[in-house]
Amino acid sequence: MCGLVHCLLSMAVAGYRFGIGSGSAHVSCPTCEQADRQSLLDLRYNWSRTTVPKSHSFFEHRWMTKGAKGAGALDFSGVWRFRELLPFYHDENQIVSIGEGRTNLQDARLLAPHVGLKPGELFLQYEGLNPSGSFKDNGVTAAFTHARMVGAKRVACASTGNTSASLAMFASLSEMAGIVFIGSGKIAYGKLSQALDYGARTLQIEGDFDACLRRVRQITTERRELGVYLMNSVNPFRIEGQKAIMYRVLEALNWSVPDWIIVPGGNLGNSSAFGKAFGELKELGLIDRIPRLAIIQATGANPLYQLYTEQGLRWNAGRYDRAMIDTLYKEQDDQGIRAKTIASAIEIGRPVNLAKALRALDIMDGVVRQVDDQTILEYKAMVGRYGFGCEPASAASVAGAHQLIKEGVIGKTERVVCILTGHELKDPDATVKYHTGIDMKAVLDQAPRSAPHGTFANTPIGVGDDLEAIVEALGTAESRG
Ligand code: F0G
Repeated sequence: MCGLVHCLLSMAVAGYRFGIGSGSAHVSCPTCEQADRQSLLDLRYNWSRTTVPKSHSFFEHRWMTKGAKGAGALDFSGVWRFRELLPFYHDENQIVSIGEGRTNLQDARLLAPHVGLKPGELFLQYEGLNPSGSFKDNGVTAAFTHARMVGAKRVACASTGNTSASLAMFASLSEMAGIVFIGSGKIAYGKLSQALDYGARTLQIEGDFDACLRRVRQITTERRELGVYLMNSVNPFRIEGQKAIMYRVLEALNWSVPDWIIVPGGNLGNSSAFGKAFGELKELGLIDRIPRLAIIQATGANPLYQLYTEQGLRWNAGRYDRAMIDTLYKEQDDQGIRAKTIASAIEIGRPVNLAKALRALDIMDGVVRQVDDQTILEYKAMVGRYGFGCEPASAASVAGAHQLIKEGVIGKTERVVCILTGHELKDPDATVKYHTGIDMKAVLDQAPRSAPHGTFANTPIGVGDDLEAIVEALGTAESRG
């Protein structure tokens, strides 16, 4: 059933399957893990050994067979009803699903003219309608499935909010212990409340998202004896689940391929997944052409924009110029430049999936643009005004669409799908401030504090950015919450 795991960069067969029984995930090629942090593993399937659908109509009957149990529950999921396209599991009982991915592709007829498109040509894919409120559930269901396959007991992630909420929700429903690393003061309250409510052990690390991710990767690679499974999008199974966002877009368009997919770019997991999805669909003959990809970054967190658009970095069949990346990062370190944007979900300076995103841009003939914070807020307000709303990071995609139309890169009659990655209610502070000028965050920071009480109170643990202190704060495998 399953395929081989490859090192993305060398494309050499890594030679092992999935670490069954290890309780952890191998995310980097073991032969180059030390030398290069970016050599992430990638899944390749041997399609000749799987049941490959011959046409997209293969999936249609699953609307009829969806239910609450067994295969019916898988058909209910917007990820697993396409399970033949992510066949890494051995048997269907291993799949961990909570009914994720039942999201809408909205024909945004009222918004279309405001971004320069004909009504009927702008579509918004509302991933905020997932159970935990963001697209993360698509990838996290797949990574939990793998975690179950390898016997993981504890799962962890670094997060600016959405991954932590998703992980905590899946952990609470699948009886694994969830641990989330969040940067001090770097999480939206709506998301913190989810992680706490679902019982995840919540470590508030002194540092930003990049620092948290470095630490959680260190814990899961250098301290394997702790048995902590890594859930961030460095995990190749996350990417597998996120391919399903594209399957649903195609399904909603009756499998007619749009001209453009536009997505915000932070750690670049989505972009990577979309490129992989379309590459595979084409290879399988399920589509006859591939749409173009536009990745939109925030001006204050734009490493891919600088590298791809300004400096011309390209995938180059896997032999991309790593020195160019190192030089940019070193310059930024020397000048003390850190990622900074109102769109907290994409406030990421060292995107871990950069190489995979370069591959996706290659597959989908992509472009990368940046938009500033005020522009993001204006388009967020427009999405709210004419639709179901979204969080700031998500609105970058709509802002980017308009910019590309004004540049003439996207034609006015082309069909455009913008991915709205997260729910409006993630960051009500930003929305309230935009509409009223009241800075709720500042108010909250000054709010009087009292000791938490209540039987299920799950208070975050503050920890310095220090490995040993973090290990201590993790507690034992048996301690939950
Ligand atoms: N949009 C939203 C709503 C997100 O939560 C994230 C990432 C992104 C976009 C960026 O996606 O990494 O695939 O390019 N959120 C992470 C988190 C950082 O912790 O929830 P990407």
